[in-house]
Amino acid sequence: MSSTKLIARTALLAAVITAPASSLADQGDWIVRVGAAMVDPDVSSDPIDVAGLTTLDGVDVDSDTQLGITGTYMLRDKWGISLLAATPFEHDISVSNTDISAGSTKHLPPTVTLQWYPRGGNDGWQPYLGLGINYTGFFDEEVDPELEAALGVITEPVTGVTDPVPASLSLDNSWGVALQAGVDIPLNEHWAVNAGVWWIDIDTKATIGTALADVKFDVELDPWVYMIGVAYTF
Ligand code: NI
Repeated sequence: MSSTKLIARTALLAAVITAPASSLADQGDWIVRVGAAMVDPDVSSDPIDVAGLTTLDGVDVDSDTQLGITGTYMLRDKWGISLLAATPFEHDISVSNTDISAGSTKHLPPTVTLQWYPRGGNDGWQPYLGLGINYTGFFDEEVDPELEAALGVITEPVTGVTDPVPASLSLDNSWGVALQAGVDIPLNEHWAVNAGVWWIDIDTKATIGTALADVKFDVELDPWVYMIGVAYTF
């Protein structure tokens, strides 16, 4: 091999290795995004009619942060389909306008969205908008002793005692619409910084079960979900 050929081949190889970063969103790409995901419910709860004895103002549900991961497949340069997954979120539940801790629940909110990348196929930052569907499955619902003690006081006219009333909590699973916006800011050919937000319509019916009666009320969680992390495209 002549030295000219060697130099030419070396230059070609160097050119390939240092080729300008291709777009982060091209047809056929997979994009995996990993980061901290916070579910921040924007709660709207019906009042809780406790068997006609009293009416509580409803419930509040606090936020939680877990590890979020999304996988996206680019169907076209400008269109992708994405799945949001996460480690289980756990939320504390309290009775509105009181100090009563009511309990807690865990949930998983898998969400599929069809995404539009207006700059798909171009280099540089990649904003996207998504529209899709969410399924939220609740599990490990627990009732706090504070609520059982409060139920004991509330039901005293019926039972004649103020002993705590053992209770259970269950939350119906939810299907709803999900809206999404996000952006990838490329660091190099594969890696980007990612920030995304979802609004998810999560509505559930809560049932507080006791030996005396079941109490049911509707709760809209409708959370904002914020995720910040990294994206890897391959
Ligand atoms: Ni809703």
